[in-house]
Formats: sequence, C-alpha cells, structure tokens
Amino acid sequence: MSALAFTQTDQARRIGEDERARILADPGFGQYYTDFMAHASWREACGWDRGEVVPFGPLYLSPAAAVLHYGQEIFEGLKAFRHADGSVWTFRPERNAERLQRSARRLALPELPTEAFLDSLRAVVTADEPWVPEATSEESLYLRPFMFASEEFLGVRAAHAVEYYVIASPAGPYFPRGVQPLVVWITDEYARAGAGGTGAAKCGGNYASSLLGKREAAEHGADEILFLDSETHTSIDELSGMNVFAITADGRLLTPALTGSILEGVTRESILRLAADRGLEPLEQKLEMSEILAQLGSGEITEMFACGTAAVINPIGEFRAHGGSWRVGDGGSGEITLALRQELTDIQYGRVPDRHGWLTRL
Ligand code: COI
Repeated sequence: MSALAFTQTDQARRIGEDERARILADPGFGQYYTDFMAHASWREACGWDRGEVVPFGPLYLSPAAAVLHYGQEIFEGLKAFRHADGSVWTFRPERNAERLQRSARRLALPELPTEAFLDSLRAVVTADEPWVPEATSEESLYLRPFMFASEEFLGVRAAHAVEYYVIASPAGPYFPRGVQPLVVWITDEYARAGAGGTGAAKCGGNYASSLLGKREAAEHGADEILFLDSETHTSIDELSGMNVFAITADGRLLTPALTGSILEGVTRESILRLAADRGLEPLEQKLEMSEILAQLGSGEITEMFACGTAAVINPIGEFRAHGGSWRVGDGGSGEITLALRQELTDIQYGRVPDRHGWLTRL
C-alpha cells in the first residue's frame, strides 16, 4: 500500500476576506475556524486511505458511532507561526506526531505515520494560508489534529473504522485576561488520572474528567485547577490542560516527573532544554504540594508557571485551597518566567536563530 498523502481541494472558501480580517483582528482562542480541514479514513481491512482537504463543516456520523459511547478518541495541539518574511513554520511537529502515536497505542486506535501527520498539517496550512496571522501580531494558527472511532457498533472493542481530521483556528492568548498571573485552585476531591490509566495520553476523557474540577475552581474565583496524584493526594500532577513548573531562589527549575499519569508536554520538554541553556538546573521529580506551599511561604520558591502549546508559558500568582491561600513571589509575573516565554516565542516566530533545529517549514 502506498503512503498516505493529502490531496488539495478546489472548493471555494466559506468565509469572505472582510469577515476573515475581522476575525483575525481579535481571534481569542478556539472560537473561529478556517475554510478547510484535512481528513483521512482508516479501515481495519485496508489501513489508511483517502487523505484529502475538504471544506470545514459538520461531520456525518452515525448516532451509534463508538466514539459517542465509549470515548475512543485522541487529539493533538500545535501552532503555525508566520515569520517576518511571510513564511509559515511549526514547532517540533514530529514530537506531536510521536505523541499521537503513543496516544493511539493507549486508546487502541491505529497509528498515523509521522510523514502522514506532517503532510496533513502542510495540506491544511497550504489551503488556509491567509488564516495564518501576521508575524507582528503574537498570534498563530492553532492546529488541532484528532482521531476517533467512527464505526457504527455498540460492542465494547477497538473500532474497525476510524477517522482522522485536522482543523485550524486562529489563536490569540489562551486565557481571556491575556498573559496575567493565574489564580489556581488545588482540589482535594478530584484526580485527573490514576496509575495504569490514560493520564499520559492526549485523549478527550482526561479533559472531560477535569471539567467538574474547573467548575469548582471557578466557584472559588480561580482561573485553573491543580490536580494532585490520585493515590495519596499529596504530590503535584498537572492543571486541566497544562504542565506546572516552579523556580527556586537558588536557580533550580522543578517540574513533576513523567510518571505515566501526566501529559508529556512538548512545551514542557522544550522549557527543560531552554532552562538548562540559561544556567538553571532542571529537575524532574516528585513535588509534594505541602513542601511547595512551605517553600512559597519561606521564599525558597520565587516563581511558578503553567505551560502548554495553547497557553505557552503563563505565570501563576496564587494558589487557593480549602485550607487557605498562598501567594507566589509578589503575586506578579516572575522575571525568569517571562524571559523563558520570550525566548520560546522568539524561536517560534523566527526572531532569533533556531539553535535547536525545532522549526519545520510548512
Ligand atoms: C494545548 O495546549 O494545545 C492543549 O491541547 C491543551 C488545551 C488546554 C487547549
């Protein structure tokens, strides 16, 4: 069988130029979608087939599609950045391709080869090129590849029919307030994932299980929810959709180790490299919440932040829990946090040399 490749469309755009300009002036996050999407199908009997670019629009899906009942679904998130010369690039897409493959193995879905994944991104960005925001805007085109069980079957087993799509959405800041210190609620009730579960996979169920916690956080005036480990409820896992870091006064950069219950973030991995380059000591280890809170009180920890593709790097200003509240540093945006954010976005937007070879032209 030949390799999966995505053919272009000759369909007209669904959104006019003026409307597109209006959207790009203030896209927010995840609110607007482009003209096209990429699609491929997989069938147990014949593998991947029919890679195509089609107009963005509703899907035709049986009400008995397995995904609607058993949640057999995975996704990815990455961004396309316009550089000053007009060219369009993405950041470490092969790491997303590999993570999609790991997620697929965990959810008993078919693996999409890395080349096909990269081709699907290129196909959408080529068709939707006018949707990639200008280099001057600090905005990007968020790409959301996803895969789900489309087979019409209610027995519980891995589906024999699967669809893969890539949709695209122009993106400004993930948080409506922009890059401002977050208030984070520490839940003592809910856990995001348990040992042997799907915590390391990027699957919809992990995010669905965070929603009640997010509601609880909002009820306490917080922007985000922090989940602790499911067994002892004492060590830090992650936020609803972001990894967590702490910076100490003596130059250590701490983040929870990959135990199988947290997402292996591409931004997380990149920050660990950038931090080492600037002389910080990166440490991936178990982070006991009580020790972190004590170290916030003593000033040993000076900054904390959340990170992910959508959120990039966002300072944390305060933690709240039933037992009280704890300020991080002076409650503002930490200096090192903002410097790391600047360095990462400078690489992504091509404002500094790509020393690590992290960019791929689309
Ligand atoms: C991303 O950062 O790309 C994610 O998928 C997380 C979600 C909170 C938007």
